[in-house]
Amino acid sequence: SAAEKGGYDYFMLKEIAEQPKAVADTLLGRIDASGSLTLDEVRIPASVLREVDKVVLVACGTAYHAGMIAKLAIEHWTRIPCETELASEFRYRDPILDQRTLVIAISQSGETMDTLMAVRHAREQGAKVLAICNTNGSTIPRESDAVLYTHAGPEVAVASTKAFLTQLVACYLVALYLGQVRGTKWGDEIRAVIRELSDIAAAVDTVLETMEPVRALARSLAEKNTVLFLGRHVGYPVALEGALKLKELAYMHAEGFAAGELKHGPIALIEKDLPVVVVVPSPRGRSVLHDKIVSNIQEIRARGARTIVIAEEGDEAVVPYADHLIRIPATPTLLQPLVATVPLQVFACELATARGNEVDQPRNLAKSVTVE
Ligand code: AGP
Repeated sequence: SAAEKGGYDYFMLKEIAEQPKAVADTLLGRIDASGSLTLDEVRIPASVLREVDKVVLVACGTAYHAGMIAKLAIEHWTRIPCETELASEFRYRDPILDQRTLVIAISQSGETMDTLMAVRHAREQGAKVLAICNTNGSTIPRESDAVLYTHAGPEVAVASTKAFLTQLVACYLVALYLGQVRGTKWGDEIRAVIRELSDIAAAVDTVLETMEPVRALARSLAEKNTVLFLGRHVGYPVALEGALKLKELAYMHAEGFAAGELKHGPIALIEKDLPVVVVVPSPRGRSVLHDKIVSNIQEIRARGARTIVIAEEGDEAVVPYADHLIRIPATPTLLQPLVATVPLQVFACELATARGNEVDQPRNLAKSVTVE
């Protein structure tokens, strides 16, 4: 009913709008007054976490994209080797796991069969499993050694939005906590990022307030057949997530690429007026990466692409090459997905509406995939 949707036309719109609160709720009570993380609820003793020598993240779909971002954060802040794998591939390839492996299973529903099977396989091999989950008492947390709940509240729309942002927050918390417990050389950076995380809900709110041009742009592209998405570093999983949202909601051909791979093949797809969304990293953080992506934008634009550029406030270098410019607030490099994903959700939702599709219940899809 309209009341359940809180006055919005679709659950997805309501859930997109709830993201600042979902993010804030997922942080609540997990950062103490001194700015340290308190994750005692994760009942894996610090002594065990200090012995971990490998982290493996397993998940499906949108949760897998959160896992790809988590890998970058965990490796950067902890220096523990980390890999992210599709849960549906994991147990079929004889992965190397033992008592010192920490497996992190990410699932909104906690009922995804592929992810559950990966959890079971990991535990059979003696690995410790930590679930990141949004559904209290669901199967995946029950079968894991420990759980860190995301506090997104119930997510009804099939397309995941607020669950994704809170999965990211939970992943950052785990990464920073591992760094804190193990005392890496990034101690100062870890403390600074914890402070920045506390402000991130407000940044998400800022993005939501500036989405009208994104909706207008989406409507203008309703007749297109293909949209490409490019990113590097954390922007690459964001590009994959933007493409997944467009597939499931707008039923359009959409693909995400690592921008550096363009010249190895995908650039052949660029033709006149093809919409290409580019997620640009902060020019302050890894400026090399930023400069590389600016030249990627130039390359595709020279071949006729219509560039839709998502870039940090104040990034002037992209302006000459952006046919459409979507501004996001400045954040630390690794946290950028929390703000960069939001315009892509809005974009896909509006395109679905413009194409007359069922937003909350896309064809052929179920909210949780409980079969393998
Ligand atoms: C996202 O929009 C999807 N509907 C889907 O990819 C989803 O994220 C995936 O099926 C995993 O679900 P889970 O988080 O409940 O395990």
